Amino acid sequence: MKSPTVLVTGATGTVGSALIPALQARGVTVRAMIRNPDRALPGVQNVVADLRDQASVAAALKGVDAAFLNSPSAPDAAALQIQFADSARDVGLNRLVLLSQYAARADSPVRFLRWHAEVEAHLQRLGLDHTVLRPNLYLQALLGFAGTIAQGWFAAPIADAAVSAIDTRDIADTAAVVLTGTGHTGQIYTLTGPRAVTHNQIAHALSVATGRDITFHDAPADQFTAALTGILPPWQLEGLVEDYAHYARGEAADVHTSVPDLTGRPARDISDFARDFAPAFRPA
Ligand SMILES: NC(=O)c1ccc[n+]([C@@H]2O[C@H](COP(=O)([O-])OP(=O)(O)OC[C@H]3O[C@@H](n4cnc5c(N)ncnc54)[C@H](OP(=O)(O)O)[C@@H]3O)[C@@H](O)[C@H]2O)c1
Repeated sequence: MKSPTVLVTGATGTVGSALIPALQARGVTVRAMIRNPDRALPGVQNVVADLRDQASVAAALKGVDAAFLNSPSAPDAAALQIQFADSARDVGLNRLVLLSQYAARADSPVRFLRWHAEVEAHLQRLGLDHTVLRPNLYLQALLGFAGTIAQGWFAAPIADAAVSAIDTRDIADTAAVVLTGTGHTGQIYTLTGPRAVTHNQIAHALSVATGRDITFHDAPADQFTAALTGILPPWQLEGLVEDYAHYARGEAADVHTSVPDLTGRPARDISDFARDFAPAFRPA
């Protein structure tokens, strides 16, 4: 029997790069959607397409059995994902799995959560077979702090709030189950780690794993903004500060069991992440 083909958007990104081997382990033929042909991935069908070019997306979707939709935050991200979903409906796609975010809500003060909610609402109206994954803060986002962590510290405007942050490898493993299994139509799965951790607990786990002393400092939002101005575009930086305010209010601390329920094994803990990624947090 012919193996199913799954289109993976964001194939070079954090979740997409882990999803590809997870799908291949389930006997799936992966079609990786890439923007730059020079970044073609080994062992998969590569298709060059850009979410901003609807014709290329329609061509990429032709003949696939399911698709995973994931793209970075951008001012037009909702419009681009909605356009992708419309193309998927037009080609008669059987199943779409959407990567959204924990606590996505149309009236959220966090812009990222509003745009994810807009895409979710569109999918519901579209009548396309779909499933929504809402992951919490990525543990892999800590890699963005690796420069100062290697010097022994990191800072963010979150104080001592706990967040049930998730390892992106668990998002990928869960997505692979949903893309290849049955019974997930219309479901919204909130994906978290096995416990909520404070940034001081994260610092402790990184200290244990690297054998170095790593300290977390709470940073006022304006100091955090000043440090990242010019590094991140204003829209993204403002959104990131909104995200941290949401974490600091303790709104992202619930633990959900979707990862173990769907994959059949526990979600990775901060100690697992710290052990596996320790080399990235040591001085060069
Ligand atoms: N970071 C977190 O803690 C967190 C938590 C929950 C949810 N999320 C959600 O996760 C999603 C992904 O965020 P991320 O920053 O981690 O990104 P990512 O998935 O690591 O990377 C973005 C991917 O999208 C591709 N891409 C960018 N622009 C594209 C376009 N116009 N057309 C097609 N592909 C394009 C990139 O390809 P190239 O290689 O060509 O650049 C790359 O493969 C966002 O929706 C975010 O809200 C993030």
